[in-house]
Amino acid sequence: MSLKTGDYKRIDHPIPPLYDKDSRVLILGSFPSVKSRETAFFYGHPQNRFWKTLAGVLSADVPVTVGEKAAFLHENHVAVWDVIKSCDIIGSSDSSIRNVVPNDLSEILEGADIRRIYCNGGKSYEYYQRYIEDKTGIKAARLPSTSPANASYSLGRLMEEWRVICGPLKAAPAGIGQVLLAWYDYNARLLPWRSDPSPYHVWISEIMLQQTRVEAVLKYYDRWMSELPEIKDLAEVEEDRLLKLWEGLGYYNRARNLKAAALDVMERYDGVLPGDYQELLSLKGIGEYTAGAIASIAFGIPVPAVDGNGLRVFSRRLGEEGEIGRQAVKRSLAHEVFRAMPKDRPGDYNQALMDLGARVCLPKGQPLCRMCPWESVCQAHKQGRETEYPVKAGKKPRRVEKKTVFVIEVVPGGTGSEDSERKIALHKRPSAGLLPDLWEFPNVEGDFSSGQAEKLARRWGLSDYRIESAGKGKHVFSHIEWQMTGFIVSVRELPEGLLEEMGWVAVSPETAARDYAIPSAFEYLKRKMRLIKG
Ligand code: ADE
Repeated sequence: MSLKTGDYKRIDHPIPPLYDKDSRVLILGSFPSVKSRETAFFYGHPQNRFWKTLAGVLSADVPVTVGEKAAFLHENHVAVWDVIKSCDIIGSSDSSIRNVVPNDLSEILEGADIRRIYCNGGKSYEYYQRYIEDKTGIKAARLPSTSPANASYSLGRLMEEWRVICGPLKAAPAGIGQVLLAWYDYNARLLPWRSDPSPYHVWISEIMLQQTRVEAVLKYYDRWMSELPEIKDLAEVEEDRLLKLWEGLGYYNRARNLKAAALDVMERYDGVLPGDYQELLSLKGIGEYTAGAIASIAFGIPVPAVDGNGLRVFSRRLGEEGEIGRQAVKRSLAHEVFRAMPKDRPGDYNQALMDLGARVCLPKGQPLCRMCPWESVCQAHKQGRETEYPVKAGKKPRRVEKKTVFVIEVVPGGTGSEDSERKIALHKRPSAGLLPDLWEFPNVEGDFSSGQAEKLARRWGLSDYRIESAGKGKHVFSHIEWQMTGFIVSVRELPEGLLEEMGWVAVSPETAARDYAIPSAFEYLKRKMRLIKG
């Protein structure tokens, strides 16, 4: 078709710029095509590969409607506009454009923290350099045009070049999920819940693994599964037994919640965990992370399960400067985790992130970047700043509580007599507060001298006793630190009525070790009294 001067029309740009305060890159075309002018939105020609290229690069579904396209741009922090405000043009022909009046970009540059400007194709780049660069003082980068006129570029080639926008967007380039999976295929840890990832197995392992290292969980997990192999067994277990199975794992409410949720599953789901993220979330003790882990690992549902490991890996990969404790920062990292997820292997991908965090992208000291499959796409590594991420707020100091703890052993024949006659006094903690309903050695507030300890023993009515120091111990909870001074009090018998008066029980060390859940806070005394092995 030959173009004649008479075919020219003077046209004002009919579409306002699309951006918001969170936009991070600006993509500039030249001028909207006839189709775009008709639909009053950018890149409306069905043969233009702008949306396919961008969606491919950002691992998203291709948006179809104008509403979807706008939402997609906002969600991915991409601003879009064109370099020309008005011009004479014939149809959609870029090469016919003349008498150009350029757009003023100051509105966008003042309203958003734009990190990089890209021009979609040579014409846009040419006009940007000629009319706009001087005003903004910012150099733009030229990307190959997504227009159907640039047919020599395949979609694959376009995506290859357009991937650069992931840098300033801090987005995961397409394909990095597959790279991680390839690493995982050779490096996954062999773990019992992985060899048979039933929903129940994954659930129990994930709850145990909260705040506890994999190596420490293994023996708890095996013992639990041999005693409570089915959800029904968990629903029926006695509370004391439940707490004993949990002894040493800490955060005992997790065990109580497991039982409550098991009862709920028996009642509402006929004993079968639901294969639905929202329904999993409705169960007691199952939050977003655990629901994501069960849904993805056991049911193959593509949802993120981002624990501390995943957050650390992604905050380093993206050089995330936001404070990691903030909900908005976590949410945005989870979004990036999800974006990079190969949707056909969600469980493996989520667990690969956990393994990468635990074994390569280490939380303390220098991470093992040379072994990392993402070394070449890691922002923190590029800057040699790995250990500066994730960014953490200064922590509040823990409250220190001083306690004096008494291990009172009743030895009827006196010290040196048969071990089988030995009994130890235990006290059940209150049902509310820290470590509710667990068993402890009798203790009082404060750091007692041996003289004060003797005085208290006499106040209890003890006579003919021996008292010796059991040394100092410390236990750190999330917000509190216990500093303990221990005494071992050996006595032939306890005064009549003392057990009831103090709410103590006296049990043999074997019974204590088998049936009474005594939290790890008392570990140093338990070891001393041979209430645990090792
Ligand atoms: N930490 C939490 N969940 C885990 C899992 N499934 N595999 C390894 N480490 C984990």
